[in-house]
Amino acid sequence: MKEVIENILSRRSIRKYLEDQILDEDLSIILEAAKHAPSGGNSQTWHFTVLQNKEKLMELNKYVRAAFDKLEVNENTYRSIRSGKVAAKNEAYSFYYNAPTLIIVTNERNYGNAMADSACAIENMLLASNALNLGSCYVNQLTWFGDNNDLRELLIELGVPESHKVCGAIIVGYRDGDMPTAAKRKENTVTIIK
Ligand SMILES: Cc1cc2nc3c(=O)[nH]c(=O)nc-3n(C[C@H](O)[C@H](O)[C@H](O)COP(=O)(O)O)c2cc1C
Repeated sequence: MKEVIENILSRRSIRKYLEDQILDEDLSIILEAAKHAPSGGNSQTWHFTVLQNKEKLMELNKYVRAAFDKLEVNENTYRSIRSGKVAAKNEAYSFYYNAPTLIIVTNERNYGNAMADSACAIENMLLASNALNLGSCYVNQLTWFGDNNDLRELLIELGVPESHKVCGAIIVGYRDGDMPTAAKRKENTVTIIK
């Protein structure tokens, strides 16, 4: 019990990775954790596409940079998309922080719980990674741009089912550097009525 809570509280988003690939055994545990997440009506319609091929990761990154480049933004655009557009102008930009493993979570386009189910699976994977002493981070660029023509074609070529949309993605690898400290949690986000 204590270990589970400690795992939840100690998980952090990691944005700097060593080049070494994660062990296949660890990847299996992470995917098993994903598949054991709850899903609406036990649908389990998700799909997990694991990308560990450097060339393919770089190709995805190229399309993400191109998508940012084409994107029109204004002051109402979501803050992370605006800052992503600026960051992506840099040649060295990597939406997956050069992590060795990217796991793309997709789900049925017309299924109402697609995002909720996928988010449950994603959190399970982030926690499993932390329990295995691996760094991980949610990365959202494929959710934003997954329907762009080039990206969609590549995702399908990589094994994403045609009827699916991208609901999220995570990166996993060995952390390079110290564990970051937790960002301050906001006050007044809870109401308890007894
Ligand atoms: C839906 C969602 C999308 C996110 N997208 C990104 C992202 O694209 N890139 C990134 O570096 N972090 C991303 N994050 C991670 C958040 O920035 C991070 O969880 C938050 O700053 C709190 O830090 P912590 O995870 O270390 O507690 C995302 C998190 C969520 C839940």
